Amino acid sequence: MKITVLNGSPKGMTSVTMQYVHHIQKEFPQHKLKIINISPRIKKIEGDARAFQEILDEVRASDGVLWACPVYYFLVPSNYKRFIELVSERGVKEVFQDKYTAVLTTSIHFFDHTAHNYLHAICDDLDMRYVGSFSADMTDLLKATERERLRLFAGDFFEAIGNHAPTSKSYRPLTGRDFDYIPGDARSKVDVGGKKAVIVTDAQVYQANLIGMIERFKASFSGEIETINLRDLDIKGSCLGCLQCGYDNQCVYQGKDDYIDFYNTKLKTANILIFAGMIQDRYLSSRWKMFFDRSFFNGHAPSLIGKQLGFIITGPLSQIPNLRQILEAHAEMQHSNLAGIVTDEYGDTAEIDSLLQDLAEHLVRFADSGYIRPSTFLGVGAGKLFRDEIWGRLRFPFRADYLAYKELGVFDFPQKQYKMRIQNAIMSLLSKSPAFRKEVNKRMKDEMIKSFQKVLVR
Ligand SMILES: Cc1cc2nc3c(=O)[nH]c(=O)nc-3n(C[C@H](O)[C@H](O)[C@H](O)COP(=O)(O)O)c2cc1C
Repeated sequence: MKITVLNGSPKGMTSVTMQYVHHIQKEFPQHKLKIINISPRIKKIEGDARAFQEILDEVRASDGVLWACPVYYFLVPSNYKRFIELVSERGVKEVFQDKYTAVLTTSIHFFDHTAHNYLHAICDDLDMRYVGSFSADMTDLLKATERERLRLFAGDFFEAIGNHAPTSKSYRPLTGRDFDYIPGDARSKVDVGGKKAVIVTDAQVYQANLIGMIERFKASFSGEIETINLRDLDIKGSCLGCLQCGYDNQCVYQGKDDYIDFYNTKLKTANILIFAGMIQDRYLSSRWKMFFDRSFFNGHAPSLIGKQLGFIITGPLSQIPNLRQILEAHAEMQHSNLAGIVTDEYGDTAEIDSLLQDLAEHLVRFADSGYIRPSTFLGVGAGKLFRDEIWGRLRFPFRADYLAYKELGVFDFPQKQYKMRIQNAIMSLLSKSPAFRKEVNKRMKDEMIKSFQKVLVR
């Protein structure tokens, strides 16, 4: 059997993920796994029709396709996403159609599920025969039990191909909507006061709805709001995955392009940030993805703490809950406040106008009051994951994160809560007594709310 492995790691063959692919190859020498590096070669693949065609020829001649990549910022690396965009832009979907396919990622399990959901949906959009996905922790390959798990996964993939196993789709195709948004006049003007608001977009001239929404949003303010187009910035390339920023947040691109200055001087100094873009496949554009990937120079520490965040999006966001979750999680991970998301997918012009006006008003009001809504599981769960990773195995090479986390008081391990530990020890001992347990059961509900009384008394 011949399998094409589409390698999404910017590190090419020096990728952690590719070691997992090598292991599959070792376990199944009867099959041929041909690895094609996508991410480090994306400029060539995009600019040289022959290079792109060679990949298509490989896919066409193979029995199955393995999408193999690291998880980058809730998704796949931006260059890998660009490749996915090229497949649809160039109308070569039929090459992938009906191919058996599977997904393999490595990560530290931070939002690996959204990356998997994305790739699964892409496979469904390409009418591929999706067999399954495997999310390995970066170091799982060192464990015999995990190697066995990987072997079983790969074996199942090969068997599905060999048996022409039936596969089903999990994601319905996205349905677009023909709608020309013509912005109306602003009903009133919001004064940002001493606050600084910045709009970041990747809008292109033909994206009339997006440009119209940005203009209408800007018209809600009494003053001028700065707009920065990611396409006007000189960004030399995407994150290389080299981790050299881990020590002191110094990126290898420092001084070589606009990105770091832009992030530090425009975004970190703003109080209100609006990100505006158009949905491309099941995410924003790969340019937007590059923006997020390059922000990795900040490490795992939040770099937009306390900011008000808004999204203006054109495209069917309500059909992609995975993307909404990513946007919400991004805000929570940054300790910023997601004030709202406005899309052009429902409603008429008047409704969009009033939603944009309302977003502007909310952003300013929240910025004035300092409101940050509480984190949900997205932020709380992920925060604990990073806390443990940065304190533990990732302390090296992420020294800058370790220092930032110490400063922010992130290392709030429950082991340090001595009063609680003593209480737990005493109560565990006492609860061995049936009489004590009976009393506890009787008083449980009252005791749970007792401590709130001191807050509630007038
Ligand atoms: C820019 C960047 C973003 C990352 N984002 C995530 C992430 O969202 N979730 C996660 O669990 N790991 C994340 N990682 C860690 C990588 O997924 C992990 O190190 C992976 O094993 C690298 O695989 P590779 O060597 O094949 O590129 C990120 C790493 C980098 C450099």
